[in-house]
Amino acid sequence: MSYSIKNQGDYEDHYQRALEDGERFWAQVAEHFDWTVPWKKVCSGGLSKGDMKWFEGARLNITANCLDRHLDSRGDKTALIFEPNDPEEKSVSYTYRELHRSVCKAASMLESLGVRKGDRVCLYMAMVPELLIAVLACARIGAVHSVVFGGFSAKALADRLKDARCSLLITNDAGMRGKKVIPLKDIADEALGQCPFVKNVIVHKRVGRSVSWKEGRDLWWHDLFEGQPDHYSPQELEANDPLFILYTSGSTGRPKGLVHACAGYMVWVAYTFQNIFQMGEDDVYWCTADIGWITGHSYMVYGPLLNGATALMFEGVPTFPDAGRFWEVVDKHRVSHFYTAPTAIRSLMGAGLEFVEKHSLSSLKVLGTVGEPVGEEAWKWYHENVGKGRCPIVDTWWQTETGGAMISTLAGVTKSKPCFAGRPMPGVNPVLMNERGEVVSGFGVSGNLCIGAPWPGMAQTIYGDHERFLETYFTTDPGFYFTGDGCRRDESGLLRITGRVDDVINVSGHRIGTAEVEDAINQSGRVVESAVVAFPHEVKGQGIYAYVVGEDDSDTDTDGSALKAHIRDKVSSEIGPFAKPDKIQIVRALPKTRSGKIMRRILRKIAEGGSKDFGDTSTLLDSAVVETIRERAL
Ligand code: WT7
Repeated sequence: MSYSIKNQGDYEDHYQRALEDGERFWAQVAEHFDWTVPWKKVCSGGLSKGDMKWFEGARLNITANCLDRHLDSRGDKTALIFEPNDPEEKSVSYTYRELHRSVCKAASMLESLGVRKGDRVCLYMAMVPELLIAVLACARIGAVHSVVFGGFSAKALADRLKDARCSLLITNDAGMRGKKVIPLKDIADEALGQCPFVKNVIVHKRVGRSVSWKEGRDLWWHDLFEGQPDHYSPQELEANDPLFILYTSGSTGRPKGLVHACAGYMVWVAYTFQNIFQMGEDDVYWCTADIGWITGHSYMVYGPLLNGATALMFEGVPTFPDAGRFWEVVDKHRVSHFYTAPTAIRSLMGAGLEFVEKHSLSSLKVLGTVGEPVGEEAWKWYHENVGKGRCPIVDTWWQTETGGAMISTLAGVTKSKPCFAGRPMPGVNPVLMNERGEVVSGFGVSGNLCIGAPWPGMAQTIYGDHERFLETYFTTDPGFYFTGDGCRRDESGLLRITGRVDDVINVSGHRIGTAEVEDAINQSGRVVESAVVAFPHEVKGQGIYAYVVGEDDSDTDTDGSALKAHIRDKVSSEIGPFAKPDKIQIVRALPKTRSGKIMRRILRKIAEGGSKDFGDTSTLLDSAVVETIRERAL
């Protein structure tokens, strides 16, 4: 691909060109793709109004670029390798031609059920090839996919189905994660009780679990799929037609459905994938993220396929049947490029070296991390024991909102430094801001990370709530996109992400709003109020610490275990098991200011294990409250 950056000089060149004349630069990148109608304007609108649009006037279909475009040159190349949860089960591969055929059949299947351009389709599935096929089938007919991670509860699924008013849901009978069976259809049924507007449910049989069935609504994937035609012409979509909705947490209770458009997202994801990972034609890439998160969308599905790469998809978990599974899979499929989350590295590091040493890992060339800051210890362990000291590590910083990576080392091309994301991608203008909204310039400085120029991958809006979109991202520092992350720029200009500066917790790379967890806790019926903060967690990066005022004083006096169990269940059913608090402290009262605001700063300090330096406490209503909480801290 000629939008490739091959060396440091190319990087400087791309960076300069994107800076000096972004429209010309992105037009040159975009020329490598198939468009049915060319664009009239490369970039319009801007960050000051939050109305940026890319490639206006153009028409395209992203799946024509992921699949059809490769058929002549790479039709017989492996596009996808599927490694099942159970190591005894055979892995499955699809060539580009086979994947194309399956996506065409699935697109026809959706159309036969009346799904049309613009309709929203929810995918609540296990990590099986049919999930990737369904994603692409939606994109092929112009339906908007909304993938909901299989770990979410029925309530969370129902909220997302309602918010987007999906007309179709695709799920599995169940999914397997290690030894655990996730009863996806049962959970979906519970959610669907609140969602009469969902006309059909397609169930792909994965586990063979018996499921309840609603005649007229529920249909088996296999029954529908088999007879469909092999060809389906991709729908021509407008550049800024929505491609997908993906929900993520913010600092208020309600998750927001970020909307990404077709053209800008495609160009951004393809360009960043190619240049960060630096894959050769025969390399094998493995991203361990679930397609339910943005990493899975951009760098499991779209990025590799847009570049004609071979990508591995894994159904299971890193610790089943043992903590060597990742490395066994790397050897089995000769994986060269491996991209995972720091939390996985930390948990495998804890399991002991013997699980790594059993495997050769000689195929590995490039390692990557994403989702949260990777600490020094985990970085070193990954570099030495997995990469054997010879594989560059790319630490890619980005967000659901940004569509693709914004700050990252380019593997083997640009300078890397442990725990630093590194330099911005061409077209990205990172700016550090202080609390007063002033730009912090120079080196060896820190600030809140903002982005000062539009880039093609930026989300277009929050589904159904453009006001919230503008309010969340474009009002803190007008003219800039506000990321919510803290960042440090070192003496040589490399960037290190230091973590969230807002009320968002990053648990094992999953973004969870403190307000969301508080809402769930408060709905448990036995709680007066609660405050949720993060604390450093060895494996998860951050854990969830909940301070809870119970309705019944006896909960405070006994160990409160019944109330705690009740709260954990409630959070599990409102959000999902991954959002359950790690620590719950039952307290008589929360520290508040005279005006009634909870002093979270103090609670954060206590959760981090601090016992003094609570800062200015002069506005505290009752300082005895702090003392009691601190004495009983967990
Ligand atoms: C938040 C975005 C990007 C895909 C996965 C998460 C944190 C992301 C890094 C990194 C330090 C990181 C940030 C960001 N984050 N990548 N390389 N180093 N922190 O997507 O769920 O939208 O979460 O994840 O805090 O704001 P997300």
